[in-house]
Amino acid sequence: MHWAVTTYDTAFGYVSAHGAPLVDLLDPQPGEKIIDLGCGTGAFAAEIAERGAAVLGIDGSPEMIAQAKALHPELSFAIDDAHCFTTSESFDAVASNAALHWMTRDPDAVIARVHESLRPGGRFVGELGGEGNCAELIVAMQTAWRVFGLSEPELPWYFPSPAEYAGRLEEGGFTVRLLEHAERPSRMVEGPNGAADWIRVYAPGALAEVPPELVEPLLQRVNDLAAPALRRESGWVADYVRLRFAAVRKADGSSSVY
Ligand code: BEZ
Repeated sequence: MHWAVTTYDTAFGYVSAHGAPLVDLLDPQPGEKIIDLGCGTGAFAAEIAERGAAVLGIDGSPEMIAQAKALHPELSFAIDDAHCFTTSESFDAVASNAALHWMTRDPDAVIARVHESLRPGGRFVGELGGEGNCAELIVAMQTAWRVFGLSEPELPWYFPSPAEYAGRLEEGGFTVRLLEHAERPSRMVEGPNGAADWIRVYAPGALAEVPPELVEPLLQRVNDLAAPALRRESGWVADYVRLRFAAVRKADGSSSVY
């Protein structure tokens, strides 16, 4: 996917704003080596670096990495695919904020790569969309597509249940220390056109299949359908559900730390 980098960073600024508490869960220590997996334009990597850790930001998008380098020239960034990246040294932690849900091809492969990059005892800390994430937005989208006689839009996200993701982490050689599955309604601060703006930024692939003359009426219909659940007097709210976890790489050869 090619990203509209500026829009991604500014129109829906809550992606970066939600990184703040996650850095506390990660608790980077001075001198630690930490990967930010799916680093986007580098905002979360910069927060980690402020705590004194050495950060390597990895992202599959050349556009995102170009912007990250421009914004944070003092940090290290690399273009790589989270499903198959390798590192020449062991890291103390891998962190990921609002990115794992884009890595749909093979979640186990991503976890395996993270495991491989960590030293035994290294931390994997992340936050992604969890089961039920954006449910109202997605139903409105699917309904509007159907009403317009279009085939169901392909949704490019992976929103696992806590049980599923915990199972994958355990199978992948991690001990799960914390797992939270929580609703987090989030104001679409600079998305005044609500669900329509959200789809333009986060599901451009679904729109690419739509005949150009239908795009505006289709998006208007999505807004009409989503408004009762998601529009407040103060503006639009995205029905986010977060899955937040902290896990530790098991010692080699151990079946469980407990
Ligand atoms: C999320 O952060 O939950 C999210 C962002 C974009 C698309 C889907 C979900």
